[in-house]
Amino acid sequence: MDKLRRYYLPETMGEAIVRVEGLTKHYPPTTKAVDGISFSIDKPKIFSLLGPNGAGKTTTVEILEGLRTPTGGSARVFDVDVTKDYSPIRNRVGTLPQNFEPFDELKPPEAVGYWAGLFGVRFTPKDINRLIERVGLTDRKNILSRKLSGGEKRKLGIALSLVNSPELLFLDEPTTGLDPKARRDLWAMILEVRQNGATVFLTTHYLDEAEKLAEEVAIMHKGKMMVQGTPQDLITKYGKMTVVVLAGAGEVGLKEITRRGISATMEPDGDVLVPVANPAEMRTIFMKLSGIELKVKDMYTRRQSLEDVFLGLVGARMDEGVLTE
Ligand SMILES: Nc1ncnc2c1ncn2[C@@H]1O[C@H](COP(=O)(O)OP(=O)(O)OP(=O)(O)O)[C@@H](O)[C@H]1O
Ligand SMILES: [Mg+2]
Repeated sequence: MDKLRRYYLPETMGEAIVRVEGLTKHYPPTTKAVDGISFSIDKPKIFSLLGPNGAGKTTTVEILEGLRTPTGGSARVFDVDVTKDYSPIRNRVGTLPQNFEPFDELKPPEAVGYWAGLFGVRFTPKDINRLIERVGLTDRKNILSRKLSGGEKRKLGIALSLVNSPELLFLDEPTTGLDPKARRDLWAMILEVRQNGATVFLTTHYLDEAEKLAEEVAIMHKGKMMVQGTPQDLITKYGKMTVVVLAGAGEVGLKEITRRGISATMEPDGDVLVPVANPAEMRTIFMKLSGIELKVKDMYTRRQSLEDVFLGLVGARMDEGVLTE
């Protein structure tokens, strides 16, 4: 059997992958890093925990990895209480810690071999090469890990996290600070892990990343869970509707449109926005608008995104994990 692949075995079906109830982690005197959160992952998927710096993402992940003891509540992985004994599930879980730095003085294949040894996984040189190939490091095989770029280090980190073919893989901000190409490479890797049947628990503060990759998203802020659902559900529920933008239509345009009974608003820059509550109405709205003499610079539709959901819920935008305005 290919050691890098593992599919769900019948005995693992039916058990919750992650189940968290009323989880808290307090740091005296006043920090409530995790403040009573509940959520569960019942079947394999890419699950993304989103939130700004200090939201409590790493604390939550590290509790689920058995590295931190919660103050209260319960946390179970594969139906095992992670606060008691992690050993029954250690081999089913992979982790990439936040800001991971691989072993400086080892070359990538040496690092993989060493790490596999720690997990008691027997890797032949061929297995090692296959894993190095899978994460796209074949042409960087002969250099020391400390000389790898930031993106290459994360790729090596992912290779290490995969040595035991985990069914559940925790990736704590794997793409923070990477350039767009390295981010895309990592996204492809994450999707591949998922396609092989594993669950990926991904923390990030990139909303576009969560929207692209995640089948389910949970937004965390100040230790609390704000919402959870598929990106599309959250956009439908919490985002505003799709709008038709009439760029530069100005006061005159606004008047012409509203005079015909179409509701519209104007942005400070003079763009006029026509909300479309139901996508099925889009055609009718376009037809009505095209019948009006309007001076516009451009006309396009703007779809709502997770960014809008986040802005609506938290009241601020997020830039590299920092809340702005
Ligand atoms: N060992 C600790 N002692 C005291 N406070 C801590 C400790 N670890 C974390 N915290 C605090 O708990 C809160 C949550 O931190 P955490 O690292 O879980 O956030 P995060 O969502 O992972 O943030 P980031 O996006 O910056 O990684 C922060 O206010 C942090 O300062
Ligand atoms: Mg963190």
